Amino acid sequence: MLRDGKIWIANNENGQPIYLNPKMANRHGMVAGATGTGKTITLKVLAESFSEMGVPVFLADVKGDLAGMCQPGIDSDDMQKRIQKFGLAEAGFSYEKYPTTFFDIFGERGIPLRTTISEMGPVLLSRILDLNDLQSDILAITFKIADDNNLLLEDTKDLKSMLNYVSENNKDLAAEYGNISKVSIAAIMRSVVSMEMAGGDKFFGEPAINIMDFIQRDQNGRGMINILDSQSLISNGALYSIFLLYLMAELFETMPEVGDLDKPKLVFFFDEAHLLFDGASKALMEKIEQVIKLIRSKGVGIYFVTQNPRDIPDEVLAQLGNKVQHGLRAYTPAEQKAVRAAAQSYRENPSFDTQEAILALGTGEAVISVLGEDGIPTVVEKCCVLPPRSKMGSIDGAVRESEIKNNFLYSKYANPVDNDSAYEFLLRKGLEDQKAAQKAEADAAAQKLAEAEAKKKAKEEEAAAKKAANSKKKAVKSVTTSVGGTVGREVGKAVGGTFGKFGKTLGGNVGASLGRGILNTLFKLN
Ligand SMILES: Nc1ncnc2c1ncn2[C@@H]1O[C@H](COP(=O)(O)OP(=O)(O)OP(=O)(O)O)[C@@H](O)[C@H]1O
Ligand SMILES: [Mg+2]
Repeated sequence: MLRDGKIWIANNENGQPIYLNPKMANRHGMVAGATGTGKTITLKVLAESFSEMGVPVFLADVKGDLAGMCQPGIDSDDMQKRIQKFGLAEAGFSYEKYPTTFFDIFGERGIPLRTTISEMGPVLLSRILDLNDLQSDILAITFKIADDNNLLLEDTKDLKSMLNYVSENNKDLAAEYGNISKVSIAAIMRSVVSMEMAGGDKFFGEPAINIMDFIQRDQNGRGMINILDSQSLISNGALYSIFLLYLMAELFETMPEVGDLDKPKLVFFFDEAHLLFDGASKALMEKIEQVIKLIRSKGVGIYFVTQNPRDIPDEVLAQLGNKVQHGLRAYTPAEQKAVRAAAQSYRENPSFDTQEAILALGTGEAVISVLGEDGIPTVVEKCCVLPPRSKMGSIDGAVRESEIKNNFLYSKYANPVDNDSAYEFLLRKGLEDQKAAQKAEADAAAQKLAEAEAKKKAKEEEAAAKKAANSKKKAVKSVTTSVGGTVGREVGKAVGGTFGKFGKTLGGNVGASLGRGILNTLFKLN
């Protein structure tokens, strides 16, 4: 809860308050600890305080036990003990509910949260699809071809038609984009289909989330608690972690540079953070590190929640200024080594041994170090974390449903929209190509028929002309015979030859018969 404008998270062994400095809240943080040690409650205490100071937060709810933040806490003996222990009554403690927006990429336990294939980009999508390097390259080329042709990739339908198109035209595309193996495309296609079968397709499409919708306050100025229900999503670790990474990257790209602020613009909690780093490629790790390093200047703080701090790579761990370490158990030498490493990452407190303390912490207890005003981490303190003001645990279905339906973002995102994108374009193009092919076929057949008919007609005419010439020849023969003499025959031959040739060159049989007609007339005149 807030005290003197600061985030009061715990009391140390001497009963003195431990504050998280809002100015330093964008320097990222970590909440770690074995199962059941109090990580989720710590996260709630932090999120409630941010909301109270007007800072919206985004949380992934892996178990459903963050949902209770939309309802006030329930009083109990245990709570009363804690209220007394911390002197909370004097500090103005009351049970409170917080403005909450539930999201769910499956659209069941929250407002549907979607993005488009294009916006996700090939690097993150490759990780979700678990592609090898070659397949990732081909996916990137497919994106480029879509881009070069102004084709929008919104949903998995678009991606599949684009992959089909690239596969069918791989030879033509090779000159510009290099060799594209059909076998690799088929493998990518199989991954897309299996993602669809796991329900992952629901999360690609429009209306895509506008990241700025997370940054809301209620009428009392409290920051919105955006909860991504991840109870189903977590079963697909890659989809879950890459989706959160995508949201982080979107925040990084969308939000303006603001430098150091009095308090963050948004705080992002990344639960089950080990899923992000497990098996991440070098390219992905570089992207993660870059986002974490640079996002703080956009006023966004990122808090990783995980069972063991060794789950977080050193380069990332070094970026985390505010650390809450709940109890760890160490039964094996490897586990003891991990606890030692965790302990050594704190600024030592001369009054206790950090490693021993971590092993002995009870539920709701933690060793804590935060960044001071000067940007230097405080000496580690053994602490008891405050209780939350909102309800611990889950909510029933009816409460959730009313929270979802009454949210102002519900009408914006509830129904999917299938825009005119790559799938529709390529479908139309396919139909047009089919139509054009059919027309070309019909034209060719008509041409063949016309030619055959012209040939037939010409043959008939030739036959008719031949017939006419024969009957005329008979008549001439009788005339020349009656005129008599060799001279007449010679003239007839010469003139007839010339005109006959002329007629033939004029155009075949008709010309020839025309020549013969003139010859006959000449003789007649002579
Ligand atoms: N600060 C606290 N104030 C009051 N109760 C607490 C506190 N921390 C922990 N508890 C109690 O301990 C229980 C377990 O805590 P929590 O759910 O936060 O553990 P966790 O570390 O998130 O466990 P898991 O890893 O299983 O998610 C809570 O339900 C609550 O009853
Ligand atoms: Mg938990």
